[in-house]
Parts: sequence; structure tokens; C-alpha cells
Amino acid sequence: MKKSNKNTRRSFVKKITAGAIGASLLPSSAAGAKNIQTIEWERPKTKYSANDKIRVAAIGMGIMGFNNCKSAVKVPGVELVATCDLYDGRTERSREVFGKHLFTTRSYEEILAREDIDAVIVSTSDHWHDHVAIAAMQAGKAVYCEKPMVQHIEEGMPLVEAQRKAGKVLQVGSQRVSSLVLKKAKELYEQGVIGQLITVEAWNDRQSPMGAWQYSIPTDASEQTVDWERFIGDAPKRSFDPVRFFRWRNYRDYGTGVAGDLFVHLFSGLHFVTSSVGPRRIYASGGLRYWKDGRDAADIMTALFDYPETKAHPAFNFQLRVNLISGTGGSQMTRLVGTDGVIEIGWSQVVLRRNKVPARPGYGGWDTFDTFTAAQQKKYEEWYKKEYPPLAPQIEEPAEAVYKTPKGYSEHVAHHANFFDCIREGRKPVEDAVFGLRAAAPSLAANLSYYGQKVVNWNGEKMVMG
Ligand SMILES: NC(=O)c1ccc[n+]([C@@H]2O[C@H](COP(=O)([O-])OP(=O)(O)OC[C@H]3O[C@@H](n4cnc5c(N)ncnc54)[C@H](O)[C@@H]3O)[C@@H](O)[C@H]2O)c1
Repeated sequence: MKKSNKNTRRSFVKKITAGAIGASLLPSSAAGAKNIQTIEWERPKTKYSANDKIRVAAIGMGIMGFNNCKSAVKVPGVELVATCDLYDGRTERSREVFGKHLFTTRSYEEILAREDIDAVIVSTSDHWHDHVAIAAMQAGKAVYCEKPMVQHIEEGMPLVEAQRKAGKVLQVGSQRVSSLVLKKAKELYEQGVIGQLITVEAWNDRQSPMGAWQYSIPTDASEQTVDWERFIGDAPKRSFDPVRFFRWRNYRDYGTGVAGDLFVHLFSGLHFVTSSVGPRRIYASGGLRYWKDGRDAADIMTALFDYPETKAHPAFNFQLRVNLISGTGGSQMTRLVGTDGVIEIGWSQVVLRRNKVPARPGYGGWDTFDTFTAAQQKKYEEWYKKEYPPLAPQIEEPAEAVYKTPKGYSEHVAHHANFFDCIREGRKPVEDAVFGLRAAAPSLAANLSYYGQKVVNWNGEKMVMG
């Protein structure tokens, strides 16, 4: 039994000695149980000439459209030239923020027809992602597409195929994948510091109207200022409803619920750290418990994902939860629990806790030992000391290490920088279409499980259901 455990572990993690852990993984200032280290980072310095700029347009200029544009223009050599949105107030606002020179339109086709635009940032509601991303690549543009890459699993492979055919760079927008925190977590995981992975738990908890997507609706929202017909797209037809337009996330016609919207970030992080292609078996439960404002999406969902053994990792179980009425005031965490420790991935830090399962069982406490007769206890102690002779004193490793991101670091800018670097260098981005589908599909499968009250099977390797 012991032997086979060791073998399994060896095949999944690099073998490291206790010395190597002390020297390379734990902070050098280590003295005491808790050690804090800032993760090293170098700000990009490259400068580009005016005629060597990547010209970008943004399609979808809501909350994330503005955030994406703000991060994109911080990357050297990037110029925002046009914006597209279906509410006129937002394109007007984009000119207030980024300059009056911007070309603005309600029609993304007009953006795609322009030959002077190299790349587009797609930050529309989820139900438009596949349509706009595919059309953009067919028009020869590189695409930064917000997560989840698609609204429905079956839209995933056509998008993957379109990317392959067009050969254009496609980066999916779960920006955490570019974070130093995940890079450090991956490094720790691959060095085998927590031993063999057993289970992962993750959550994204919230407790506020904005956290539950009850966004502000402008007082001038009307059929004149909003292109409602276009917004509907391939969703069921209905008459103008500003609540559905400005709070589309709460409706399954346009969004993907808490699973598609938020699970997907946690899948992206987990898959990046463990090099996993995804779970096999998925079961989810949930409900609409508190935010009963007319929405049809659940406000709590909890799901179980069984990951099969692959070359990259052993079989493990993943428990995932989003709760929009959590009582915690908001928190996000992914905990990778292994035989020798735990890696906790938070927003701006990774915590490593060493917690090796003792090789010696010990005796006493909540054990059968105290139920033995005094004579048997004596005999047992003699046997135990022979079986497990006392060890020479050992140097204790620090029990806990904390790695924080440096001041001024932005994973969002880093994610955009990766996108633009890949366009210039013809490389595959960190979160390409295949990665995007492997993160989106299990998230969307959780919806299928919950709404269909069934266990769902997904094959991440082949990217097919069943
Ligand atoms: N990466 C992240 O951390 C993160 C955070 C929030 C949202 N998101 C994602 O970003 C996307 C946008 O979310 P948001 O919160 O900004 O929503 P939002 O409602 O604030 O903005 C969406 C905008 O898209 C526009 N739009 C919809 N269909 C369009 C079309 N066919 N052509 C042009 N414009 C269109 C709408 O007019 C709207 O202004 C979603 O996919 C969401 O999941 C990602």
C-alpha cells in the first residue's frame, strides 16, 4: 500500500528534498512559522514607434469594456481607435474617457470592416461572444474575448475551429491566468511541495446588491438610446426591458448564471496551476434564495467535479461554490489540498501550509490504546518503540509561507500584454480557445446538471459531452 502511494506520487510531482524546499520555495527571510515574501515582477519597458502600434477596437463598452480598454492602453504600443456599444451613453462615455478621436458605432460589423483595426476586445453580454469572436477572426482580427468564452457548450468547438482556420490570436479574458499569484501557485504545485493532490475546494462568495448584479440603470434608457433588437440577437424575442438590458447577467437568455460567470474564473485558475484538461463527472445543486428581483438565474450554486487521473495529475475531487448571499461580505479562494500540505490561492496572495501526514502513526488520544489492559498497553509501548525507534532531532521547516503580489502589479494589464505580445510574435496566448472551452464547459455543465437535475459527463481531453 505504502509503496504504490509513493510510486503514484513520484509520477505526478517532481521529487524534492527537504533541503530544496527550504532553499528554493520558502522565503529566504524565513525565521519562525509564518514568512511573507513579495513575488518578483518586472514592469514591461518596451517602446514602439507610432507606425508599429497595434490598433484596437472595443466591442461591448459596459463595465468590463471600460476596464479592458483601460488595461489595454497601458500596454506599450497599443492604441484604442474605436468603440462599439448598443447603449449610446456608453459610446459617448468612451469618448469622454479615451478621447474625442474615437470612432463609435452600434454596429460591430462596421468595426470588423475596417482594415486599419488589428484586434478587437469583445466585452459584450455572454450570448454575443461566439458570434462576434468568430466574425472578427474571419475578418482577420485578433480577438480578446471575455469569459466565459461561450454561452453554451455546443458553441465552443465552432469557435475553436474558427480560430484554427483563421490562425488569429484569441485570448479569453479570465485575467487571473496571467497573475503572479497563479504563477507562484503553479511553481509550488509542480515542485511537489504539497505532495500528491487529493482534493480542491474553491468558492466565490458575495453579499451586496452590486455583487448580485443589481447594476444601476440610467434614467435615459429607452428604445431610442438602446438598440434592443440587436441586443436580443439569437435570444428569444421580447419587448424592450431596460432591466434585462442593464442586468442581463441575471437572465439565462443572455448570461450564464453564477456558474458560467464565476465558476469559470476558478476553473481557469485550477487548470492553469495543475495543467488539467477538466473534470469528467459533474453534479450541481443550487437555488434562487434571496435576490428575487425578477431574475431567473440561481443566486447560490454548489457543485462537485470528479477529475480523472491524467499524465499531469492524479484523480482528485473538486468542490466549488458561488453564493451571492453568503453572509461573509465577500471572499474568493481556491485551496489545493495534498498529502503534505495545502496551497491557498487568494486574490493577491498565495499561502503555502506544510502539513505532512506523519509517517509514524503514534498512539494514545482518540485511539484504541486506552481501551487496552494496563499489561497490554505496556507490551504495546515496547513493541511500538522497537517498530519506530526514536529519530535524531530534525530541523523544522517553516510551517507557513505567504507570497504577495508587488504594489502596482495588475494581472489584468499582464493578461492584455500577453495578448498583444502574442499578436506581435505569432505565439499562442496563455488562455487560448481550447483553454477557454475547457474552463467554460464544466462551468456550463454545472448549469445543465442543476437545471436538468442530473449528473453530466464531459470529456475535457476530446472536448465532447458524454
Ligand atoms: N474578466 C472579468 O473579470 C470580468 C468581470 C466582469 C464581466 N466580465 C465579462 O465581460 C462581459 C461584459 O460584462 P459587463 O459586466 O461589462 O456587462 P455590461 O452590461 O456592463 O456591458 C455589456 C455591454 O455589451 C454591449 N453589447 C451587447 N451585445 C452587443 C453587440 N452585439 N454589439 C455591441 N455591443 C453589445 C451592451 O450594450 C453592454 O453595454 C461578460 O461576458 C462578462 O462575463 C468579465
